[in-house]
Amino acid sequence: MDWVDYQSLTTLLNSLIIQYESVMTPNVGLEEVWISTQETLAQIIPFYEKGNRIISFGFDSRLRRDGIVKTVKSGDAVLDIGCGPGTMSQSLSRYIGDVELMVLGDPLIPMLEAAKRSALNVNLHINCVFEYLPFKEEAFDVVMCGFSFRDARNYKEALGEFQRVLKNNGRLLIVDIGKSDNFLIRWFVGLYFRFIAGALIWIFLGVKKRSLYSKIYYTYRKYLTFNQLENLLKAQFKEVKIQQKMLGAAMIAVAKKQKTG
Ligand SMILES: C[S@@+](CC[C@H](N)C(=O)[O-])C[C@H]1O[C@@H](n2cnc3c(N)ncnc32)[C@H](O)[C@@H]1O
Repeated sequence: MDWVDYQSLTTLLNSLIIQYESVMTPNVGLEEVWISTQETLAQIIPFYEKGNRIISFGFDSRLRRDGIVKTVKSGDAVLDIGCGPGTMSQSLSRYIGDVELMVLGDPLIPMLEAAKRSALNVNLHINCVFEYLPFKEEAFDVVMCGFSFRDARNYKEALGEFQRVLKNNGRLLIVDIGKSDNFLIRWFVGLYFRFIAGALIWIFLGVKKRSLYSKIYYTYRKYLTFNQLENLLKAQFKEVKIQQKMLGAAMIAVAKKQKTG
């Protein structure tokens, strides 16, 4: 058939397949925006905890505490991954006391340095990412992520690594912003992160810092809804429980490792 331009046809088909896949494939992680998000996080370090308190109205510490109290025991070996300036570990020492082993991991060295200055009783600070954890199998009783899992480059790979380094029946704790399955709540929370959170930062921390917080909206858009997160967790973990907080604007997820093979 001379009248068919096969090259244009192939190009058209390819672009249709790419568009179809981007609609049909559930969110997988921050992927290509991961590096720019990390660059933004690095700039936020000096006022990280203050900013969190402002945009969450102080609820962030309560969420960390509630998640930790229901998941961690004093005899546990704990990995705080995406540790930032050590906020989860500070909360852990306040509400649980010392644990058997406390390891902190983060890809940003300045975050690890801030954690070294602020988090107590830490055995090891490691520069690493969720998706390739430099630990042997079944090393930890608890893996915890405070407001960090949403920033993963790839959620599925991250969960695979959490599952690998957890002991049998070990617990995964994820405390984070929540993305409701209800369209209206999702829309409202999106609106909050797009406009209102930035305005609060502007008022309390100054106009220059406002734009840094606009990244949260993009991570929220890319994040998993409760249903998607539950399905992803259930594929690799057992006893998955997602507790919605603040009318679905936040969540505490707990799951147990189920031994494979
Ligand atoms: C918003 S801070 C959370 C800090 C702290 N855990 C808390 O409870 O506030 C997110 C942290 O996750 C880290 N992070 C982002 N992507 C990551 C990845 N792929 N693996 C491990 N940590 C990651 C960032 O470097 C950052 O320090």
